[in-house]
Amino acid sequence: MKEDFKIKNICCIGAGYVGGPTMTVIAKNCPNIEVFVVDINEDRIASWNDKDFNKLPIYEPGLKEIVKQCRDKNLHFSTNIDESIANADMIFISVNTPTKSKGIGAGQASDLKWVELSARRIADHARGRTIVVEKSTLPVKTAETIKTILDSYKKNNHGIKEKEKKEFYVLSSPEFLAEGTAINDLENPDRVLIGGDDKNATKALEDIYLNWVKKEKILKTNLWSSELSKLTANAFLAQKISSINSISALCEETGADVKEVSKAIGMDTRIGSKFLSSGPGFGGSCFKKDILNLIYLSNHYGLEEVGSYWGKVLEINEWQQNRISKVITKKLFGNLYKKKLSILGFAFKANTNDTRESPAINICKDLLEEGAYLSIYDPKVELEQVQNDLKRNSEKNLNLTIAKTVEESANNADAIVVLTEWQEFKKLNWQTIAKLMRTPSWVFDTRGIINTKELKSTGINFWRVGTS
Ligand code: NAD
Ligand code: UGA
Repeated sequence: MKEDFKIKNICCIGAGYVGGPTMTVIAKNCPNIEVFVVDINEDRIASWNDKDFNKLPIYEPGLKEIVKQCRDKNLHFSTNIDESIANADMIFISVNTPTKSKGIGAGQASDLKWVELSARRIADHARGRTIVVEKSTLPVKTAETIKTILDSYKKNNHGIKEKEKKEFYVLSSPEFLAEGTAINDLENPDRVLIGGDDKNATKALEDIYLNWVKKEKILKTNLWSSELSKLTANAFLAQKISSINSISALCEETGADVKEVSKAIGMDTRIGSKFLSSGPGFGGSCFKKDILNLIYLSNHYGLEEVGSYWGKVLEINEWQQNRISKVITKKLFGNLYKKKLSILGFAFKANTNDTRESPAINICKDLLEEGAYLSIYDPKVELEQVQNDLKRNSEKNLNLTIAKTVEESANNADAIVVLTEWQEFKKLNWQTIAKLMRTPSWVFDTRGIINTKELKSTGINFWRVGTS
């Protein structure tokens, strides 16, 4: 029974890229708390429970080791949602919040149907005092909606034992982890945010984080600041990338080198050196959707100038992706018909198997459109995923194959296009690869990671983003 605000049992709704790793780290650092991660997706839960730890649904460095240590001890993955809700003192909502595809706000607003469904399920099945924590990224004021739904179920308290009467507290604690470094980000966060207006509930969540996070890194704010800070953080990060990508194009025209410019401006501590790597445009499931959401909110409150300011960050990102495929086509005599292009990397960044909004999708689609044949190599992305991402309505057979090695992909290729900054691409043997390619051969390095010294000695033509 939940007599005080002490947390003994946690439920997390949503076993995805956030719910899975976040709860794994909580379970590791809080051995006295039972953690249940639940999901409606049976396959996903089965993968989390797979005996083979290489088959976990998410690839994240360091994740499988902790799952191995905690699973079936105080960390459980289950589809038993209602029971887990009923037993929990604290419930994290970590469900997906994609951009709405239809109805009011389509193409901009976040689709909150899964959040609302979760809130209703919590309202229905929770017993006694329950703290509900927003972990998903949500529009400002969503906590109000969740609270209204939860409180409307208090009418069911009539005739129930005092201890079982429903009582809800809503907090916001957005997640700032980045994929590929999720475990390190969770173990050593720059800060943890807790938004809420109830001191006891806030303290209960703070006590959990205090098991491994220093007190001075835990920031307490009101609910709305917390919700808005998450959208703002992602918008600022994305804005830095679009800013440097816009400069990369100017570098290519003027003889400046974007790497040198990044270094020069990044040494100014007011600007900071992180998130200044020019590339093929940002991808990932969140930057675009969160900025779209910020634009929607701004317009909703009549702040069109604010909305259009952030809209430019997205416009530059799309432009950068389009620009890359145009450069490739132009350099290959304006014609890609039946040319073999080796694509190195398909994930939206290194150290993840996630391809959501990967710049590789738009770039590969453009190259296919020009008639190229693609041989794609990515150490973590499966063929089925690539096919799903590149499939267009009109096409049954895509003009592509998946290679098992870089060499297989490069064999007989007219060009290599580096799209993800995987470590193994930084130390390729260019002497060997050059012999495999058709001449005149090209390497297009959209990530600025290729060892140019070695490559140039092979006679391969070379283009790197942000240099002329
Ligand atoms: P995801 O799609 O990987 O996982 C969400 C999971 O929730 C899915 O497995 C889905 O089946 C499950 N789900 C949906 N509705 C459900 C319901 N009613 N009951 C039970 N399970 C349900 O998404 P994600 O990448 O983990 O993102 C989740 C949230 O976290 C989003 O709001 C996102 O913006 C935010 N976020 C993501 C990241 C990231 O790196 N991916 C980082 C910070 C914040
Ligand atoms: C991002 C944020 O970094 C996290 O703090 C946030 O929690 C998360 O979004 C979220 O809300 O989902 P993530 O998208 O996983 O994390 O990865 P990032 O490292 O931010 O990279 C995003 C994209 O920007 C990638 O395509 C990456 O290649 C690109 N990028 C990043 C650059 O092009 N240049 C850079 O300098 C940095």
